[in-house]
Amino acid sequence: MSYLRTKSIESMLEGAEKKSLKKSLGALDLVMLGIGCIIGTGIFVLTGIAAAKYAGPGIMISFVMSGLTCAFAALAYAELASAVPIAGSAYTYTYATLGEIVAWIVGWNLVLEYSVGSAAVAAGWAGYVGGLLKSAGVTLPLAWTAVPADGGIANLPAIGICLFLTFLLVRGTKETASLNRILVFIKLAAVFIFLALAGPKVNPANWSPLMPFGFSGVAAGASIVFFAYIGFDAVATASEECRNPNRDLPIGIIGSLLVCTVLYIAVAAVLTGVVPYSELNNTEPVAYALRAIGYNFGSAMVGTGAICGITTVLLVLMYGQSRIFFAMSRDGLIPAGICKVHPTYGTPYIITIIAGIAVALIAGFLPIGIIAELTNIGTLFAFVVAAIGVAVLRVKQPDLVRPFRCPMVNVVAPLAVLSCGYLMYNLPMDTWIRFAVWSAIGFLVYFAYGYKNSTLNKDNRAA
Ligand code: ALA
Repeated sequence: MSYLRTKSIESMLEGAEKKSLKKSLGALDLVMLGIGCIIGTGIFVLTGIAAAKYAGPGIMISFVMSGLTCAFAALAYAELASAVPIAGSAYTYTYATLGEIVAWIVGWNLVLEYSVGSAAVAAGWAGYVGGLLKSAGVTLPLAWTAVPADGGIANLPAIGICLFLTFLLVRGTKETASLNRILVFIKLAAVFIFLALAGPKVNPANWSPLMPFGFSGVAAGASIVFFAYIGFDAVATASEECRNPNRDLPIGIIGSLLVCTVLYIAVAAVLTGVVPYSELNNTEPVAYALRAIGYNFGSAMVGTGAICGITTVLLVLMYGQSRIFFAMSRDGLIPAGICKVHPTYGTPYIITIIAGIAVALIAGFLPIGIIAELTNIGTLFAFVVAAIGVAVLRVKQPDLVRPFRCPMVNVVAPLAVLSCGYLMYNLPMDTWIRFAVWSAIGFLVYFAYGYKNSTLNKDNRAA
């Protein structure tokens, strides 16, 4: 059963010290990193689509459901992230608790979350930029702005933004965090401008009927707008680069999630309150709603803020992905040569570049619909395993130092598993099939490479 071998937390902490990343992030950087990754395509695009197609004004309830699910998962994440402040998030925690093969498959699915999610966000970014240019009178040629399945050759703006952000990530975390902070402020301003302008124009009649497609529609909406919350876990992937992870990680994870949940419910309520939900099925529902009530300038401002918002999401998702790869290659599960840290910048540059190119290619050539669907299921799976992990670790290592303890873990961990499982259950069958195929490929890779090359395997042989 050596594929269920676990890694001791002490050895991980030692190993991380030997080959470590630069420690440059504080609590505020982490909250910003979280908000940077959370508020993006989900709220600016998916809210409208999910309201029009599934939930109606009940989308507010969908956000509450998804937000609660993430809160349970976040509490588990925060405990693990503070006790095991090592790059890799759920992957690393699983390695310490449930064994190597489970960790591998979690890591493999986190790669799916981050790369496929980044690609979907990049494609969304390109769409928003194309829309803004179009309203300024510049129309980009379809051939170079659409993927082959949509009648184009490649989505060049999407490829361009991925490569540009890869360059920033190679240059260093601190610089990236500063840029992120500016973009987050602009994005929050966009959300507040929307709430301030549209809030007074809410017509409560638009909220009735609240659930035009019944509760199942609200549940389907929840499994889709879950995308809007993805990203708080990326804070945990930065644990090794925190100056004071014990205090700052829980603040970063729970703080950013809390801010976003409040804003989402407010935006969803105002959005469905100012225009009938059936009109929201478009690529820029927030800007659309403002135009519909006569705020053209406000709409352009919010559109620009949305582009900034989506940029930060992409930045943090790509950042998280490179750190998960870094953790997996350090463990020998993927080739170790690519985990080298840059001598000057202190970043895992080779893996960052490889991941950046992969994301650019996915975004440039594959249809957004297919890639976006997959993101949620991979993430929910990782959350389920992390929640199980936190409970297992309490039993296996009761004395481990836990600077942050998940409150009522016996209740919260099972609730996290059940609520994430419920959202997974509400995703379409096609998504489940793709998820199964991706996981099967993951197992093949593990048995062909990782099982033999795992550093744990080498340690055993040396012993
Ligand atoms: N939560 C991120 C977004 O909304 C992924 O775009």
